[in-house]
Amino acid sequence: MYLRPTAVVTGSLLGVSALVLTTAPTQAAPAAKAPLPVAHRGASAYAPENTLAAADKARELGIDWVENDVQRTRDGELIVMHDDTLKRTTDVAEVFPDRAPWKVGDFTAKEIAQLDAGSWFSTKYAGERVPTLKQFLNRMTANRQKLLLEIKKPELYPGIEADIVKELSNEGWLGPFNVRRKLIIQSFGADSVKKVHDLAPTVKTGFLGTPSVDKLPDYAKFSDQVNPRYTDLTPDYVKAIQSVKGPHGKPLEVFTWTVDDGPTAVRLADMGVDGIISNKPDAIRDAIGGR
Ligand code: G3P
Ligand code: CA
Repeated sequence: MYLRPTAVVTGSLLGVSALVLTTAPTQAAPAAKAPLPVAHRGASAYAPENTLAAADKARELGIDWVENDVQRTRDGELIVMHDDTLKRTTDVAEVFPDRAPWKVGDFTAKEIAQLDAGSWFSTKYAGERVPTLKQFLNRMTANRQKLLLEIKKPELYPGIEADIVKELSNEGWLGPFNVRRKLIIQSFGADSVKKVHDLAPTVKTGFLGTPSVDKLPDYAKFSDQVNPRYTDLTPDYVKAIQSVKGPHGKPLEVFTWTVDDGPTAVRLADMGVDGIISNKPDAIRDAIGGR
């Protein structure tokens, strides 16, 4: 069973008392590892999603892992953006009023670099830009943070997996240290995850979804994680996923999303999930303890 740190301390103290009183050594059961809190689109409850400010906010809160969403511009630049249009999170409709529906893939990197990606969230963030993947990677490095990179809507961007792997390589993210400690690539597209695994077999990968238990061994050929929406999880399903070994010979992990309240996080920690992706990663970390 998962024990929060306070419970562990209490258990240890009880063990010491028992030792003193009875001279029979009593040990607290070792606590399961607390799930890793991951900042969803950065610390996106507090700063505009998928911006450098949201990454910085996560760092300020002491959160190491940041999730983002990667897409590609018309001229082939990789950028960090969740929706497949620029409308919700930038001022594109004001800057380019005649370009509806403002699809990411219809704009050049230079055009996107002009947009304000912060004002929609708060005037405090006016002038925040849509980062390129390169800028985001560099900020992760400067902040000593780690990246859970989601390839968003890969079906819209043929070949984006190779582009991402090339960018990661150019920026020094495919060296052994980064690959082992600092990078996971995930997608809702199983084909996309498989392509990443084929192109860069050492990189840790994740499939976003809820495959049936009998299909898990198929996913485990190319994915190290199976990452379902938290409402789809049961203790048995988490166990079933973790009982299968992934492409690197380790048990598959479960990073679940998007969880913003402490009691739900504790319930998921009790199920044994490995990571919790949250807009309020500090609240999750404080509820479950740990990293
Ligand atoms: O990391 C998982 C989560 O981000 C998937 O959903 O729509 O927020 O990208 P979405
Ligand atoms: Ca995402």
